[in-house]
Amino acid sequence: MYLYIIWKNLHNLVKKEYKVKNIKEKGKLHPNNPQKGKYDFKLLIKNLPELKDYLRKNPRGEDTIDFSDQKAVILLNKALLKTFYNIDKWDIPKGFLCPPIPGRTDYIYYIAELLESKANNIKVLDIGTGANCIYPIIGSQSYNWDFVASDIDPKAIDNAKKIIEENKNLKNKIILKLQKNRDNIFVGIIEKKDKFDLTMCNPPFHASLEAAIKANERKVNNLSKTNKNVKKGLNFGGQKAELWCHGGEILFLKKMANESIKFSSQVTWFTSLVSNKDNIKPIKRLLNKLGVKDIRILEMSQGQKISRVLAWTFKG
Ligand SMILES: C[S@@+](CC[C@H](N)C(=O)[O-])C[C@H]1O[C@@H](n2cnc3c(N)ncnc32)[C@H](O)[C@@H]1O
Repeated sequence: MYLYIIWKNLHNLVKKEYKVKNIKEKGKLHPNNPQKGKYDFKLLIKNLPELKDYLRKNPRGEDTIDFSDQKAVILLNKALLKTFYNIDKWDIPKGFLCPPIPGRTDYIYYIAELLESKANNIKVLDIGTGANCIYPIIGSQSYNWDFVASDIDPKAIDNAKKIIEENKNLKNKIILKLQKNRDNIFVGIIEKKDKFDLTMCNPPFHASLEAAIKANERKVNNLSKTNKNVKKGLNFGGQKAELWCHGGEILFLKKMANESIKFSSQVTWFTSLVSNKDNIKPIKRLLNKLGVKDIRILEMSQGQKISRVLAWTFKG
């Protein structure tokens, strides 16, 4: 009994330390993230001269772009992908989610820490890769991970396929799979023979299309308060099926947790971004009921924004 209490206390201490360790420096990207610090616009423009036309000065007189202008953000992404990951061709169809690359990179760097000493032949499953295919691009180019990437949207899969075909360094690194049943997460994607070191996911957040549109309007209104150049009625892309699903983030996470048990021996770490911190508690409760061996919350912070990755494993 005494031994158990000592073990439990030590276990909690290690867990707590892990969480604190993961916050790293508040407001900063992961220390290994090559995009930490300010954007080096000189270098980015050298690699993508088109970006120059979209440069603006911020109130401190520093170079920036208008982040409400999707064309400018797409060009910034192209420049970042070329500079850091040697990706020559990348684009997304109109209206699709345009990802902030430094934040997406952080997810990869944080989950890489879960792998501990294993460095080679890492296999990762990205659930809901989107038209941008961003996690497989960054993970394959930063760590040489091999990916399977799924999505329910055939247009997203087609665009991801185009990105892979147009960049030599992505060839043979990413297998795309269309999820034919939107109620499934892993079922229909993980095959009997498969083994994954990690699964990852940036789940749809909103519970309805209306909620997604309203959130987009709020975002534009807030930006327009501080930036007169922002035109109302603009959209940031991705407010269609990419950003919502019935039941919103919480139901998506519950489905993922419930399905994960079926694949507990084939996957080492299941992970997902959790945007709403209030969703952590109920999911942790569910995971404990399902008998997981370990749960980690990896906190990430960029500027004012705190986000988190929930990770769980059934392996002891
Ligand atoms: C928020 S977007 C994330 C896209 C991309 N991974 C990113 O981070 O920018 C969520 C994606 O999940 C996809 N999705 C929704 N339900 C899914 C399911 N059951 N299985 C696989 N993908 C799904 C959507 O089509 C969408 O592309």
